[in-house]
Amino acid sequence: MTHLFNSNVILIVDDIPTNLEVLSEALTDTGFDVAVATSGESAIRQIEYDSPALILLDIMMPGIDGFETCRRLKANPNTKDIPIIFMTALSDSVDKVKGLLLGAVDYITKPFQQAEVLARVQVHMQLRNVSTALEEQNVHLKQEIEERIAAEAALQQLTQDLEHRVEERTKELSQALHNLQEAQVKLVQSEKLATLGQLVAGVAHEINNPINFIYANIQHANHYIHNLLELIQLYLVQYPHPTTDIQEKIQEIDLEFLVEDLPNLFSSMQIGAERISEIVKSFRTFSRHDEAEIKAVDIHEGIDSTLMILQYRLNQKSPHPAIHVIKKYENLPIIECYPGKMNQVFMNILSNAIDALEEVIDTYNSLITPTIWIYTHVVEAKHIKIRIIDNGPGILQEIQKQLFDPFFTTKRAGKGTGLGLSISYQIVTEQHGGSLSCISNPGKGTEFVIEIPLGQSALSHYQLQPSPNLLEPLTQSQLLSVSGNI
Ligand SMILES: Nc1ncnc2c1ncn2[C@@H]1O[C@H](COP(=O)(O)OP(=O)(O)O)[C@@H](O)[C@H]1O
Ligand SMILES: [Mg+2]
Repeated sequence: MTHLFNSNVILIVDDIPTNLEVLSEALTDTGFDVAVATSGESAIRQIEYDSPALILLDIMMPGIDGFETCRRLKANPNTKDIPIIFMTALSDSVDKVKGLLLGAVDYITKPFQQAEVLARVQVHMQLRNVSTALEEQNVHLKQEIEERIAAEAALQQLTQDLEHRVEERTKELSQALHNLQEAQVKLVQSEKLATLGQLVAGVAHEINNPINFIYANIQHANHYIHNLLELIQLYLVQYPHPTTDIQEKIQEIDLEFLVEDLPNLFSSMQIGAERISEIVKSFRTFSRHDEAEIKAVDIHEGIDSTLMILQYRLNQKSPHPAIHVIKKYENLPIIECYPGKMNQVFMNILSNAIDALEEVIDTYNSLITPTIWIYTHVVEAKHIKIRIIDNGPGILQEIQKQLFDPFFTTKRAGKGTGLGLSISYQIVTEQHGGSLSCISNPGKGTEFVIEIPLGQSALSHYQLQPSPNLLEPLTQSQLLSVSGNI
């Protein structure tokens, strides 16, 4: 609308030249620019061409009168905002009202009181100037608002883009973290297997020779002693009256008891030596130098050797009762697998069960008989299923789905690393194409089910590539924590 106010001209519309003259002189003298028109029609034409700032409009005119002129100006959007002041006879109040109703801003009366006319015109010019300023400000504000809306939209777009990028980056990063964790687990796993395997194999190797030595010689020693005792017996029969020295010696060494006790002593030494050989044998079975290769093995041997290694944790340790192990082995065929790794799985699951049972013992003491059940079955001549069950505290529903996550542990720092089950899961599923699952009812106990196919020939490419060079050598304490939580 700014075009309406682009002039400071006051347009006087009157058909009587004297009126025009008087008014225009008064206004010009006061400093206004003045234009004149002598009829409504010519005024409208003139206004179309060049809008005045204010119109002084006579009512009584030939042709269209002031009211009609006003109506037409108000009906035209281009001219409707030009303020109009009617000029009317002093007495004619009907005309004043009608004029105001038609949209006029004011009226002046004839005959003109010069001071009044000037005052009114001045007021309306001022109003019009304020209006103009407001209008201009309004336009500015509108522009500003539009700019702000545009800026806001741009900002929103930018924020969206940024959010999108952050989201993508976060996704990438968490994927990277996941990969890193998996790689770490694999490294730890291979390193752990290697370290533990070496340790156990080394111990087994070192003990093996001396124990064989003892074991083999005990038989001979037993035989020799037996002979010696027989000889003494013979002496006693042949020489029933030995010298005093001999008699004294016989008394001193309590020969009667010695002869009676020596065989017992030998047989317990023999049992001990046999037991050590068995342990050494389980160490060897457990560590399997050939772990990187698929072997056809008796799975029960693996389980038993693992139990043997864990025996010290199963025994009664006053006031703790012993943990019972109930085995129900089906007749299993020979299984193709990575035996060292499968033993690792048994070790992880059995040690978890023992940890869980120890917790129950500590909490409820003798209310239950802590027990581990181990069942093996053949499933449809294709798979074997190994179930390891304990009557420990069980596992809460909400943490069951996290069990196999790397580093998930509920055990105190130093005791748990949270790697046992995630490693076992990898070994069983990825390396043997099997499955590992957990069924647990809190308060009732836990069952882990391992299923692996009978044959592995198709899977040899899954074999884990040990990459020891990527890992710093383990420190002593790391080594301890590794072997403490296999
Ligand atoms: N037999 C079980 N009974 C109860 N909870 C178990 C059993 N086995 C595993 N868990 C739970 O699973 C978690 C993860 O086990 P694992 O991966 O071996 O790590 P860690 O033994 O180092 O904690 C354990 O901290 C424990 O909360
Ligand atoms: Mg564990």
